[in-house]
Amino acid sequence: MPQYFGKLPTTNQPWTTIGAVQSINQNESTIDLSSENSHLIISILAANLIRVRFSPTTEFLPRRPWAVTVDDAEWEKVPFAVQETDTTVEIKTEQIRLCVQKHNFHLTCFDKAERPFAQDADIGIGWRLGAVAGWKQIAANEHFYGFGERTGFLDKLSQVKTNWTIDALDYDALSDEMYQAIPFFMALRPEVGYGIFFNTTFWSQFDIGAEHPGVWKMETRGGELDYYMIYGPQPAQILRTYTQLTGRMPLPPKWALGYHQCRWSYESEIVVRELAQEFRQRRIPCDVIHLDIDYMRGYRVFTWSPQRFSDPKKLIGDLAQAGFKTVTIIDPGVKYEPEANYHVFDQGLENDYFVRQADGTLFHGYVWPEKAVFPDFLRPDVQNWWGDLQKSLTDIGVAGIWNDMNEPAIDNRPFGDAGEKIWFPLDAPQGDAGGETASSTTHREVHNLYGLMMAQACYQGLERHRKERSFVLTRSGYAGVQRWSSVWMGDNQSLWEHLEISLPMLCNMGLSGVGFVGCDIGGFAGNATAELFARWMQVGMLYPLMRGHSAMSTARHEPWVFGDRTENICREYINLRYQLLPYIYTLFWEAATTGAPILRPLLYHFPNDSQTYTLYDQVLLGPSLMAAPVYRPGVEYRAVYLPAGTWFDWWSGESYQGPTQILAHAPLEKMPLYVRSGAVIPMQPVMQYLDEFPLTEMRFRVWPGNGEYIFYEDDGHTFTYIQQNYSLRKISVFTNTDQTIIEIGEREGKWTPPQREITVELVGVGEQHFSDVGQKVSLRFTHT
Ligand code: NOJ
Repeated sequence: MPQYFGKLPTTNQPWTTIGAVQSINQNESTIDLSSENSHLIISILAANLIRVRFSPTTEFLPRRPWAVTVDDAEWEKVPFAVQETDTTVEIKTEQIRLCVQKHNFHLTCFDKAERPFAQDADIGIGWRLGAVAGWKQIAANEHFYGFGERTGFLDKLSQVKTNWTIDALDYDALSDEMYQAIPFFMALRPEVGYGIFFNTTFWSQFDIGAEHPGVWKMETRGGELDYYMIYGPQPAQILRTYTQLTGRMPLPPKWALGYHQCRWSYESEIVVRELAQEFRQRRIPCDVIHLDIDYMRGYRVFTWSPQRFSDPKKLIGDLAQAGFKTVTIIDPGVKYEPEANYHVFDQGLENDYFVRQADGTLFHGYVWPEKAVFPDFLRPDVQNWWGDLQKSLTDIGVAGIWNDMNEPAIDNRPFGDAGEKIWFPLDAPQGDAGGETASSTTHREVHNLYGLMMAQACYQGLERHRKERSFVLTRSGYAGVQRWSSVWMGDNQSLWEHLEISLPMLCNMGLSGVGFVGCDIGGFAGNATAELFARWMQVGMLYPLMRGHSAMSTARHEPWVFGDRTENICREYINLRYQLLPYIYTLFWEAATTGAPILRPLLYHFPNDSQTYTLYDQVLLGPSLMAAPVYRPGVEYRAVYLPAGTWFDWWSGESYQGPTQILAHAPLEKMPLYVRSGAVIPMQPVMQYLDEFPLTEMRFRVWPGNGEYIFYEDDGHTFTYIQQNYSLRKISVFTNTDQTIIEIGEREGKWTPPQREITVELVGVGEQHFSDVGQKVSLRFTHT
């Protein structure tokens, strides 16, 4: 239910506070402070990473087997100093100073310039029956980003953000809970930036100055307050540390960066074959076709409809011949079907893999297959079983799995019967009751993990059963989901408003550590107009996951259904996507190695420029390429902000000196794109699918200025990149008044790309060519 009027806490039950520090104990990397009846542990995990744990009793929960964070013991010890005065305890690392006030446990961090941040406010930490909370100050000109999957624009100041995964059908800019629950955000102001990971899987909520302007609050319905404070000050540093803590994405197969086509549903083999043929005949590149729920026999997961998909292996093989990968949807709800020879139900029941209610009876809800039961993905044995079930799909050539409805979405009466959304009973036992390290709990604690654990089971199953990289997509997830899966923003709508919020949504996902993300191009629910569709394809070209999708009973949304003009625009922008794949793939490598987002709001690269703090409608694809798309019908001009530095128009080469505002001309055929001076963008020829032909020709587009770029390549599909089977090239650009030198460094790494001709284009100046054998090359361009 959308919260049209916002949501503020309704209970006035007072919070209990800690009191004064009574004893202090220092261990190797922790400082324990206790008061009469409660306990605070400060752990110094890195010079910029502090964990704070508070328990209103003296007890702390043991580490959970499903914890998404690196164990404290695994961090390399860093030096820090502790100093006690009459009124404070001061902890100093190489980067920050943390000061605890003894009379009330208030914590304040300071940077090297003595600027305070993450400073406790109000009562600092408090608790009441079933809830624990912490309060901190919002500094002047401080803005808030991340929070996982969120609608609306970029900055979340003055908003309440609840972390509880739901089927967010019909979401809009006012929606609060979403499919994903990622209790992480970053706070930025000029020169100062920090991140907070609220380490709770229970229901939790951030209030960013909504109830009390100037104060932000975190609250969990778990028994303790546990958060990690990450000092930046740059967003890049915050993300680097946050993804060290919660993990980074593995490199996806390169084909997953191409165009994906999906619909609910391409309902038969015939329709799928026709679709594939259209793409190839019309010369519109496409790498992936998704099969939605109708490929199954009566929505039974891990089955095929014998009528509509009589020979899936042959179909998938033929598609592969034509250069398409097949991705199939899988839902967690397993059809409740005793004595019907349905292997998934039978095996799950026999091994007691499905969630039971507190009274021991099998829990069921209603989803696509009507009455359905739900695997307990919190249990390693269930994860293994589920992972292995993917084998029936990978054996016939399926290359990726799309995990849907895993919040989990359920109704409490036969589906379609005006079913009301209900939740799993919060007291349903979950997890493993036996074994040494096993642990069990109830749904209340692990609801937010359901989608994440399903995605993990899927990823690991695919890793076991496919000898190469696979594609995994999930709708629901929790912090750390980037380790297992890409994510799409669920059921958006064919509305200009949804096009407009798509980039800030994806940017906030990227700022939450999840880089491989996308929205349904064209909108899922409703019917796009030709104009909306064309604009959406332009924007979609920037999505790290570029997938078109549309719902049952809506008009078709393939690139050609809106007539020639729209088709040409779609082709042009999908072509551009393919040309940019070497650049985009390098961004994925960066995400995999540093946690950097692929799609970035301007504030990511210009964190000290307050102009960028609320700028949601322009975006950077990586460090160099900036887009200023159009989000309204009939609009042909738009204002564009160019931050400090020299910028070039991608299309015309015209240069601008930032910071400045310009008016860009953007007729329907054109999405304004800009490049930073000194940038290098490696490009490949248009292909209809990823490995259509070997990359024997490449173009490096370079813009005058000074810059350095690292270009990453590997075979694109095996795991051997983990053993350095890749190629890295450093490209440096130096420009002075009359010449530019471009140096392409020697190839590093064990992978040898095909023998190739490289054209280096210094935009606006000229081109030079060379045959690349991996050695250092230096090119001089004289400006005329
Ligand atoms: C809900 C998903 O969000 C949507 O993408 C999908 O098409 C439908 N389920 C049907 O599977």
